[in-house]
Amino acid sequence: MAKSLHLDRFQLGVCYYPEQWPETLWADDFRRMRELGFGVIRIAEFAWTIFEPEEGGFSFDLFDRAIALAHEHGLQVILGTPTATPPAWLTHTYPEVLNVTQTGVQYQHGMRRHYTYNAPIYRELSARIVRKLAEHYGQHPAVIGWQIDNELNCETNVFYAAADQAAFQAWGQRKYGSLDALNRAWGTVFWNQTYTDWAQVRLTGPTPSDSPNPHQALDEKRFFSDSAISFARLQSDILRELAPNQWVTTNGLYGHLDNHQLTEETLDFFSYDSYPNFSTILGSLVPDLASDPLRDRRWSWFLSVVRSISPNFCVMEQQSGPGGWTNRLAQPAPKPGQMRLWTYQSIAHGADMVLYFRWRTATMGTEIYWHGINDYHNRPNRRVAEAAQVGRELETLAQRVVGCRTTAHVAIVSDYDNEWDGELDSWHGPYTRQSVQAWFTALQFQHIPVDALYLRAVTTLDDSTQYQVLVYPHPAILTEATAALLTAYVQEGGTIIFGCRTGYKDVTGQCYMRPLPGPVAELCGVTVEDFTRIEPVERAPCLRWRDEDESIMTADGFNDILQVTAPGVDVLAEYAEGYYAGAPALVRNTVGNGSAYYYGAVFNVDSAQALLRHMGLASPVGDWLELPRPVELCIRERAATGERIIFLLNYSDAEQTIMLQKAVTDLLVEEQVQGEMVLPPYGVRMFAETDETPLASR
Ligand code: GAL
Repeated sequence: MAKSLHLDRFQLGVCYYPEQWPETLWADDFRRMRELGFGVIRIAEFAWTIFEPEEGGFSFDLFDRAIALAHEHGLQVILGTPTATPPAWLTHTYPEVLNVTQTGVQYQHGMRRHYTYNAPIYRELSARIVRKLAEHYGQHPAVIGWQIDNELNCETNVFYAAADQAAFQAWGQRKYGSLDALNRAWGTVFWNQTYTDWAQVRLTGPTPSDSPNPHQALDEKRFFSDSAISFARLQSDILRELAPNQWVTTNGLYGHLDNHQLTEETLDFFSYDSYPNFSTILGSLVPDLASDPLRDRRWSWFLSVVRSISPNFCVMEQQSGPGGWTNRLAQPAPKPGQMRLWTYQSIAHGADMVLYFRWRTATMGTEIYWHGINDYHNRPNRRVAEAAQVGRELETLAQRVVGCRTTAHVAIVSDYDNEWDGELDSWHGPYTRQSVQAWFTALQFQHIPVDALYLRAVTTLDDSTQYQVLVYPHPAILTEATAALLTAYVQEGGTIIFGCRTGYKDVTGQCYMRPLPGPVAELCGVTVEDFTRIEPVERAPCLRWRDEDESIMTADGFNDILQVTAPGVDVLAEYAEGYYAGAPALVRNTVGNGSAYYYGAVFNVDSAQALLRHMGLASPVGDWLELPRPVELCIRERAATGERIIFLLNYSDAEQTIMLQKAVTDLLVEEQVQGEMVLPPYGVRMFAETDETPLASR
C-alpha cells in the first residue's frame, strides 16, 4: 500500500524564512498570509546555526517567537530539519564531513548540500540537532509535521569523500559476502580489474575516456541511494520516537535515490517541489528537450512519478515567480495566469497540500532573483493577486477535491536499475528518455491520462492489472521475476508494449547469453535476428504498415530486425528501407486474454500515436468532451462514491474552445454548463459530473 497524504481539508501555504527578515515584519506577513487563504508555513530548513550557534550550545528563541506568532495568526507549521546546510563551525572543525568530487576536489563552506551522508561525525551531529528539535517542538500545537533535510541529492547526487569510500566497501561486503562474488558481478576479469583485497574496492574514480566499469557504476548508484535513505532513516527514527503525532516527509525528486523505498522506509508521504518554469530554459539544460512541444506541461509527468510514490502528496515548493540564481538558471516571468495554472496542475495530479516558494524574494544571497509571491518592496503585485485568487477559489473547491485520487488506465513503466544503468550506457539510456517523452506527448495530445508505474521487487500483479496498457519502452535490464510478472499481467488481459533493446541484461548489467529479447522472448513471440544502431550516422528507415492505412513513420534510433517465433503473432509493420527492408518491425502476440507488442525501434510521437490508434485507445471522457491539443485533461476520483472531478488546464497563451456534449457542474462558479466554452489563455476549469450522468459514460 503506497504511503499517501491523508487530510480532511486541502492545505494551501507558503515557505517562510523568519530568520531572513526583521522581526517587525513577521506579524504583518502572517496576517497577509491568512488574508490570502494560507493555513500553513514551512520554516527552518536552513537554520542550523540559529539553533546551534556553537557546537553543543542550543538556542530556540528566534523560532519559538516566530512559531508562537504564526500560531496566534492561525497558521500551522512544518519544520524542516536543517541538515542541508551544515554550520561553518561544523565543517571547519570536522572537514571530513565535506563531500568530494569524483576528481578529488573537496567542496567548501559557502553554498549548501556540500556534506556527505556517510561521515560518522555528520550523522552524529545531525542526529543530535534533530533530537534537540524534536524534543523542543515534538509536542508543539502549531507544528503538524517535519520535512527531513531539504531536497536529498539535489545540487549533487554523487559522493566520493573518504567516508563514502569506507561505507562503499562495507556496503559491497554486505551485498556480496565475498570478493569472488563482487568480482563476478562487476565482470572484473575483463581488462584485469580483479580485486584481491577489500581495501582495493573503491567508488568509480577518474578513468581514461571517462569510462568506468559499468557494473561498478550501477552499484555505485544503488549505494548512493542507500546512503541517502539511511541518512533519512537516522532522522525519521528520532522524529517518530519524539514527535509521534506529527508526520514526516521530505521534498524533491532527485537522481540516484529510490524515492519509493525512501518513502516506504522513512516517510509518511512524499513531497515534491514543482518548478514548471524550468521549461523555459530546459533546452540549455537538457538538449533533447530543446524543441519540446509540451514545455511546462511536461511537469505533469514528474507529478505522475510523484503520484506513483504517494497517490496524494504535498507540493512543498510551488513556483510563484521567475526563477534565477545570481549566476545561473535565469528564467522569464511566469505570464499572468501561469502561476495559478501550475498550482492547479499540481492539484489535478494529486496534490492535497501546496505551499508556494516563497513568501518574499530574498534580498541577499544566491537566490536574490528567485522570486517569491511578494517582491522586495513588499507592496501588492500581480503574483499576490493571483495567489489570492487561488486562495478564494480553494475555499469552495477544497473539500470536493481533497482525498480524491488521480486516475489513469495507461501507465509508462520505469525502474531504478535501468534509469541508473542508462545514465552511463548510451545504448539504452537516451532511447528511454526519447521514448518516455514521445509516449507522454502522444498521450497528452489524445487526452489520455497516464500514470507512472515503477517496477520494484515489491510490485505485485494487482499493481499492474489496474492498467489496461503498460508501455515499458526499453528495459535493457530485465529479470526473470519481472518477465514472469509481466507475462501474468498479459495473461490476465493486459496489453504491454516494449521497444528495442528489451531484455538483454541481467541485474548486474551483464548481457545474457540467450536470444533477445531474453526473458520476454516467449511473451513477445519474436527473437531479434539482427540489429543495428541508426542515428546519428545513418538515417532512420521508414516503416510500412501491413494492413492499415497508417501514415509513414520512421523507426528511430536503433533497429531490431525481428523474426516471428510463435504461430499467433501478427506482424503489424515492417521496415520499408535498408538491407532489412521487408523484415518485421512491429509485432503483436496474443497471450491468454491480453497482448504483447514488440516494436524494434525507439518511439517517437508518430509511432506512439499510431499505436494508440491501432489499439483504439481514446480519452475516457471523449464521448462527451471535445478538447483541443493545448488543453490537458486530468481526472480525480473519490474511490468511495465514484464521483469524478474533471480538470482542464490550458497551457497555451491563446484562448481554447472546448465542447461539452452533456451538462456538468462548473466548480468555480457552481453552475451547470453545457455546449461550447472558452478557456482563456493559461485558464483552468474544473467540472463535476451531475447525478444524472449515466453511469455508462463514467
Ligand atoms: C529548491 C530549493 C529551495 C530553493 C528553490 C529555488 O530546489 O528547495 O530552497 O533553492 O529551489 O532555487
